[in-house]
Amino acid sequence: MGIILGIDVGGSTTKIVGLNPDRTLISTMMVKAYDQLTSLYGALGNFMDTNGLPLSGVERIYITGVGGSYLSGNIYGIPTHRVQEFSAIGKGGLWLSGLDSAIVISMGTGTAFVKADLAADSYKHLGGSGVGGGTLVGLGRRLTTAEDFDALCVLAEKGSLKNVDLTIGAISKESISTLGADITAANFANLNSYTTEADIALGLINMVLQTIFSLGIFAARGTDCPDGPIVLTGSLTDLKQIDSTIESFGLLYPNRFILPPKAVFATAIGAALHGC
Ligand SMILES: Nc1ncnc2c1ncn2[C@@H]1O[C@H](COP(=O)(O)OP(=O)(O)OP(=O)(O)O)[C@@H](O)[C@H]1O
Ligand SMILES: [Mg+2]
Repeated sequence: MGIILGIDVGGSTTKIVGLNPDRTLISTMMVKAYDQLTSLYGALGNFMDTNGLPLSGVERIYITGVGGSYLSGNIYGIPTHRVQEFSAIGKGGLWLSGLDSAIVISMGTGTAFVKADLAADSYKHLGGSGVGGGTLVGLGRRLTTAEDFDALCVLAEKGSLKNVDLTIGAISKESISTLGADITAANFANLNSYTTEADIALGLINMVLQTIFSLGIFAARGTDCPDGPIVLTGSLTDLKQIDSTIESFGLLYPNRFILPPKAVFATAIGAALHGC
């Protein structure tokens, strides 16, 4: 039996992974190209070449993501299947985290919430949000000098939230119920003449992460497992600030946020798992 490839053609980036028939991971790769079809073929060629693999060694290809619809038929004569994205997100998130059931969040260009249950082989799209990585890059471009994601991250390293966000402590003498003084009352409500562009970069990252995490909590509350684990996947999991966001939400809510290794590749892995 040959290897199985999973390719996730997302709104911003294309991810490719190779799995052996016994489900061990061969390698992962992310590429970006101007258009999604070029991105897909570029990812495949680059992946095979980098790993010294012949095309004849590929048994099947599983494609998912918004850009998967640009391709019809097989790739280079290799049987090629399309996988529904939410099922790929759910399967990949569970596999990487080793959980049997969870809410899996895909933090990509936009954000999707999936209730995944391994035993029932059920991967239900609970809903989505337009607040995601695309929001971060777009607002970052307009509000700071950072032209792309990497530049925004570098800028944010020098930032502070002190002159960006309004905290509970700033508007209330006593903490509200279980909310501590440091909890955000309103993102960007404390902008003032001392705010720097580095502060704004950090404020944007913080606002996007807090919004995604809060929506994850609310998504879980509508399920039969309201306090259950929440698995984080997608390229936004690479943000440095994700660890501190996990920590602060851990103090506020009973749900455990899990950041598995290779979280960026969860959807591509989930697609490939459809073939093993
Ligand atoms: N190397 C990178 N190149 C581009 N964007 C990146 C990179 N690393 C992180 N990002 C951020 O991640 C976002 C894209 O995330 P991801 O790759 O998970 O999305 P996608 O799969 O392309 O999109 P979607 O799943 O919403 O269709 C970008 O909007 C950007 O904020
Ligand atoms: Mg994606």
